[in-house]
Amino acid sequence: MSAAAGGGERTSPARVVHGPPVPVGKERNQSGPSRAGEVVLWAEDVRVDYMGDAPTHAVRGVSFTLRRGEILGVAGESGCGKSTLAYAVTRLLRPPARLVGGTVRYWDTPRGEFVDIMRMTPEQLRRWRWEKVSMVFQSAMNALNPVTSLRRQFGDVLRAHIDGISSDEVEARGRRLLEMVGIDPARIASFPHELSGGMRQRVGIAMALALRPEVVVLDEPTTALDVVVQREILNEVRRLQAELGFSVIFITHDLSLLLEICDRLVVMYGGEVAELGPAARIAGGAAHPYTRGLLRSTPTLFGDRKELAGIPGSPPDLRKPVKGCAFAPRCPHAFDLCLQERPVLAPPVAAGAQEAAMAPELADRAPIGTGAGTAAGTAVGPGPDGRPGTRAEWEAACHLRGAVTGPVAAPAAGAQGGGP
Ligand SMILES: Nc1ncnc2c1ncn2[C@@H]1O[C@H](COP(=O)(O)OP(=O)(O)O)[C@@H](O)[C@H]1O
Ligand code: SF4
Ligand SMILES: [Mg+2]
Repeated sequence: MSAAAGGGERTSPARVVHGPPVPVGKERNQSGPSRAGEVVLWAEDVRVDYMGDAPTHAVRGVSFTLRRGEILGVAGESGCGKSTLAYAVTRLLRPPARLVGGTVRYWDTPRGEFVDIMRMTPEQLRRWRWEKVSMVFQSAMNALNPVTSLRRQFGDVLRAHIDGISSDEVEARGRRLLEMVGIDPARIASFPHELSGGMRQRVGIAMALALRPEVVVLDEPTTALDVVVQREILNEVRRLQAELGFSVIFITHDLSLLLEICDRLVVMYGGEVAELGPAARIAGGAAHPYTRGLLRSTPTLFGDRKELAGIPGSPPDLRKPVKGCAFAPRCPHAFDLCLQERPVLAPPVAAGAQEAAMAPELADRAPIGTGAGTAAGTAVGPGPDGRPGTRAEWEAACHLRGAVTGPVAAPAAGAQGGGP
């Protein structure tokens, strides 16, 4: 399969790619300095509905790339679609959730091309999930089997993926994994209920790392823990990530946490990407009013004391279609035009050359407005205070920059070569 398969212009809102199964490579994590930064996971226009009388459009056209060796944060209020997105990119969606559009591609190193995870056979998926991509859930208790020992659970995972592995090897690996996440290896004989919440979450991380995957998705891994344990686990994740070189998708509603540990951030609002960019840039100057609102409602560990302010209003009802900008009813800068047209995300700053060449809209993105070609003086109002507004004022309020980009070219077939 080539990278171009299922690519092309992003005009179809509900595209599901079907086709023949594709091979899944078996080799272990090969990340290293020479490959750092290449795209390992590529989600394009992902759309997920929860089916029912009135379907919930939980994820509405989300695109992002995950680079090798980076920590990509996904932030946003509860219910904005973060977990649904995580399930979609790991192909773990279960009814009533249904992928109704978009593609997710994984960079298959041995083949030197992207593979479409929607086209994997069940057996390929089974191997891919632990060997290439693994997931840590919010509640490790739900992920671990309460009635079997950790020894047995490590054994189940390792035996399912490594043909002929001996009991001694399982024992040694299980102990090493526990040690790696800061747990006494003797606890391999314990049952999950004998461990504290923090220890269980560490075991969940150890399990996720058992087969040295290239990507680890952590969905609110520390939300249920107290702040001290939370910090210990975050430090552990960071240390392991630096040591082993895997890529991380880290999901949490806690923006301050993400700003601290992530390289780049996806900020979601109402099932969409509001903003995507380097964490440092967002911390220093978020472009989207929603991100700025989130930052104002988040206490920081460092820097000056500041007064916290929430974001008045409620998130959109995801059962209803959204016309215009989803944030408009809550946005302090909204003009009339915002209720009519969706802001377009585009790359205001250069990404890595390889990624930019692959799909320019996946680079650092901030809203750049609607109405391609409209002049700065074009009326977009009335504005928040009832005054008539111009496009220039709107751009200033929303930090909109540059011109709207044209249609996105299909990525070069199969390749991600030529990158930095
Ligand atoms: N099983 C389900 N059935 C119907 N709707 C669901 C289900 N799970 C989640 N949703 C809805 O999908 C939206 C996104 O949920 P979720 O991905 O869990 O958000 P987050 O992880 O950001 O809190 C929410 O509006 C939620 O109510
Ligand atoms: S200014 Fe308009 S487009 Fe920008 S976030 Fe506010 S409502 Fe949305
Ligand atoms: Mg969630």
